[in-house]
Amino acid sequence: MRRTFICGNWKMNGSLDETMNLIGGLVPRYQDSFVNVEIAVCPPFTSIALAHSLLSDRGVRIAVGAQNCHDQQKGAYTGEISTRMLVEAGCTYVIVGHSERRAIFSETNEFINKKILAALSNGLKPIVCVGETHEERELQRTFEVLLEQLRGCLRDVTAQQMHQVTIAYEPVWAIGTGKTATPEIAQDSHSFIRSEIEALYGKEVANNVCIQYGGSMNASNAEQLLHQPDIDGGLIGGAALDAESFMTIVRIASQAH
Ligand code: PGA
Repeated sequence: MRRTFICGNWKMNGSLDETMNLIGGLVPRYQDSFVNVEIAVCPPFTSIALAHSLLSDRGVRIAVGAQNCHDQQKGAYTGEISTRMLVEAGCTYVIVGHSERRAIFSETNEFINKKILAALSNGLKPIVCVGETHEERELQRTFEVLLEQLRGCLRDVTAQQMHQVTIAYEPVWAIGTGKTATPEIAQDSHSFIRSEIEALYGKEVANNVCIQYGGSMNASNAEQLLHQPDIDGGLIGGAALDAESFMTIVRIASQAH
């Protein structure tokens, strides 16, 4: 059985006050029946320690992740943060290769690969984002782009390490736009990603790897998406900023798998 994983990507939202309110909304909505779902939230760096302490004080099984990291552990990298620092602050996960980082901060597959290797060697579980732009989809280059991103990002990651890795399929045209991929389109890409993981690592790893969908997933469309055979969870942006919506998605996930 594959793990089901719902993760909130708060992006650049979540001052200390907002974090306190949002975590305060998640905690009472958490139910023991959600135990079959892995749950995490990824606040901005400055709110990670607070989110972690609020959640662990309340004994709620929601982990904390970061939205980015650097591949080096220390030194002259002004403005960057290392994977060890993130672990120290309470992170279990780190999102890498988000399309906003690729597009706005020019991150390449090569750099993302270094971050993934750094995360894995320091006990952080990477959530590796891949996905095509609208233009690439129009040009029927989706699978080619996914292939290039997967191969580039996962270089030198071993089959053993793949157990710690989550893949997030996030079609760029669906992020923050309200334009969710149809369940069929998403399933098609997820199944392609799994087949590529099989080509790289064999059947066992492919069957076990958790592939999240991300891109305007919300409480209304989560059910249809999560019922697709190769969609194992969600990376949620906008809807993760509302405790009720986020925990509704978690509940749907706990019933879907
Ligand atoms: P969205 O963002 O749910 O707001 O589309 C998802 C993401 O960027 O991870």
